[in-house]
Amino acid sequence: MSEHTCSESQDLIVLSTDSDSGKEIDEMTSRVLPPDVTFAPSRSPTRTGRGNEEHSPLLASRVEHEYGLFENNFPDDPEYQEVIRVAESAIEEGFLPERIFQGSSGSYFVKDQDGKTVGVFKPKDEEPYGQLNPKWTKWMHKLCCPCCFGRSCLVPNQGYLSEAGASVVDQKLQLNVVPKTRVVKLASDTFNYNAIDRAKSITKKNILEKLPNVGRHFHRIGLPPKTGSFQFFVNNFKDADFWLRKFDNEDLPISTATRLQHLFERLVVLDYIIRNTDRGNDNWLIRYEPATSRGQSEEESEWNFVDNPVISVAAIDNGLAFPFKHPDEWRAYPYHWAWLPQAKVPFSDEIRDLVLPQLSDMNFVQDLCDDLWELFKTDKGFDRRTFDGQMSVMRGQILNLTQALKDKKSPVQLVQMPVVTVERNKSGNGRSRTESETFTQSFSHRAPFFSWC
Ligand SMILES: Nc1ncnc2c1ncn2[C@@H]1O[C@H](COP(=O)(O)OP(=O)(O)O)[C@@H](O)[C@H]1O
Ligand SMILES: [Mg+2]
Repeated sequence: MSEHTCSESQDLIVLSTDSDSGKEIDEMTSRVLPPDVTFAPSRSPTRTGRGNEEHSPLLASRVEHEYGLFENNFPDDPEYQEVIRVAESAIEEGFLPERIFQGSSGSYFVKDQDGKTVGVFKPKDEEPYGQLNPKWTKWMHKLCCPCCFGRSCLVPNQGYLSEAGASVVDQKLQLNVVPKTRVVKLASDTFNYNAIDRAKSITKKNILEKLPNVGRHFHRIGLPPKTGSFQFFVNNFKDADFWLRKFDNEDLPISTATRLQHLFERLVVLDYIIRNTDRGNDNWLIRYEPATSRGQSEEESEWNFVDNPVISVAAIDNGLAFPFKHPDEWRAYPYHWAWLPQAKVPFSDEIRDLVLPQLSDMNFVQDLCDDLWELFKTDKGFDRRTFDGQMSVMRGQILNLTQALKDKKSPVQLVQMPVVTVERNKSGNGRSRTESETFTQSFSHRAPFFSWC
């Protein structure tokens, strides 16, 4: 290992310690509490310090002490913050997240106080590689056939980061096809916990009830919060597969078909950049509402209003992307959209104007890598060299995509281009930049494993 790599891994240690700082603060606050403080009324752990401002900060600290210090603060994004607050309050009031049963791992529909779904939460430790994956078939698979389990090109047990990373790429390029996704911490009785955590939580609750003086010293009451991705739930969408079959038989109005084509291209751009290995037509959703007229009576007919048709696309389930090397030939993980008729149409001016100026700008691409670094480094298993591999693949994908857009290729032609990695040869880490950055491109001239047409 070079000196440079060593110093990076030292940084890493500092960073992962940092991510636990919430715990340290929590322990500190509980230590400074005077023994005679009475309990604050039951409130959401993330609402500590809000409301009740007239009370001393000690009361807020007390609530943190009672529930554990949650870290779901998104001051840069009030909309996201609000939805998370709603979800936390709902959990506190007993509207608990529900497991999505068709899923391959532990994923949950998170509710608001009316029981309406507002988000999809995927905890890290319930991913296929996570310790608490609730699906026993996956567990057997991992145990009996480890070499065939999972995708060897992906970083194991970081699916939640891939979900949030897809949202970073989507927002940065203004594609607006990924429902907003970030990393949060949530606790709920309906999540999969091991017996020890459950027993600990019950014992602490009992002690707190019977011996409040002892219970007061507990670091946290209740089940431990889980780290995972939280994606906004989108309403009135159905699997793309459902609508695409329908559109085969009924012609869409031209303007709607054009809009769908543009949204499809955004999905292609997203998937290609993040090298999504799991984009089946069940992992993107379409919302379609045909034009409707209002004002039904005959007298009103002259005054009928026609609502424009609605068509939108949502790219969900982005947890199997950002590989650190290109997938092997024998398991190519094709983009399933490549078989759709829409993929044979050359990229439109709309998508070229939207993304080409940014993707051709090296500073923009470096900024994107930096934003992903900020996100990915928060994982305890973060490894700088693996991350560099992920970025080399992504830069290679961006290089191909840029060329394809310039040459007015179609998505089918794009996926037939030889894959390339672009390695950044530079010391330093994170957002630091030098004048003398160099890049090494390596092309693979392998013929694609699949015939795409
Ligand atoms: N953000 C979302 N908005 C609306 N529905 C969603 C969303 N995410 C997931 N779903 C629904 O939940 C199902 C399973 O979610 P998915 O993310 O595909 O999980 P898995 O990784 O288990 O396949 C999807 O097929 C879709 O119907
Ligand atoms: Mg899925």
